[in-house]
Amino acid sequence: MLVFIAQNYAEVSREAARMVAGAIRRRPDLRLGLASGSTQVGMYQELVRMHREEALDFSRVVTFNLDEYVGLPAEHPQSFHSFMFRNFFDHVNIPKKQIHIPEGTLRGNFDETCAHYEEAIRRAGGIDLQILGIGKDGHIGFNEPASSLASRMRVKTLTRRTIQDNRAGFASGEEMPRAAITMGIGTILEARRILLLGAGARKARAVALAVEGPVTASVTASALQLHRDATILVDRDAAANLRHKEYYQSALAMTRKLTPGRLW
Ligand code: GLP
Repeated sequence: MLVFIAQNYAEVSREAARMVAGAIRRRPDLRLGLASGSTQVGMYQELVRMHREEALDFSRVVTFNLDEYVGLPAEHPQSFHSFMFRNFFDHVNIPKKQIHIPEGTLRGNFDETCAHYEEAIRRAGGIDLQILGIGKDGHIGFNEPASSLASRMRVKTLTRRTIQDNRAGFASGEEMPRAAITMGIGTILEARRILLLGAGARKARAVALAVEGPVTASVTASALQLHRDATILVDRDAAANLRHKEYYQSALAMTRKLTPGRLW
């Protein structure tokens, strides 16, 4: 894993966007895996700016989102569908037919929906670059503790903590979704490259467990230790509990010098 410690959230967002843009310029039909969380908002804003001011072209990019709440119609303001259009898709030139977001409302037919989604990823040739955030308990996608490290796309029950963490934005008194449809850890690990973003002190514990803890289904982000091309891009607050910060910084400087392609 390459651990990139940025000064602050703005630098995390800029670096992430620079890496995504580099991947698109190298491969205009990039198959891009996307995540919806407040952490990604700055990266999306920067990508939109690059589209407007630097002619970054998304017309051939194919996207696959990680997850969606079960039971929320796509047009609900807190659905990941709405989040993605509001923050990104409405402002760039990705044709709608190239956008894939799991469907959370097909009651009773989830197994089929999940199988189709995995099949669409396979037909597209697999995901070239998967963007991830990290939950406070160390989950990626909605792979809550005890998710199999070999899991595929499926419905997951959310923990009470995740439900509380994600409450912001839902009206007070409004029933929160209790389950989500999510790519599995096995699905995520098949992406050719992975870029996980983390920002803020509230993520420090999860980031340290993911990077330096044992590989365990209790902290599903730790499965990224098994991936051969994962970059962990965090700000100083989210990196606070890492034991080997200095080493990561010198390893990054060496990577820049010897194998800059590794950083896009
Ligand atoms: C949800 C999403 C994750 C995301 C996490 C953190 O659980 N399923 O993909 O990483 O929230 O979100 P935030 O970036 O808002 O802290």
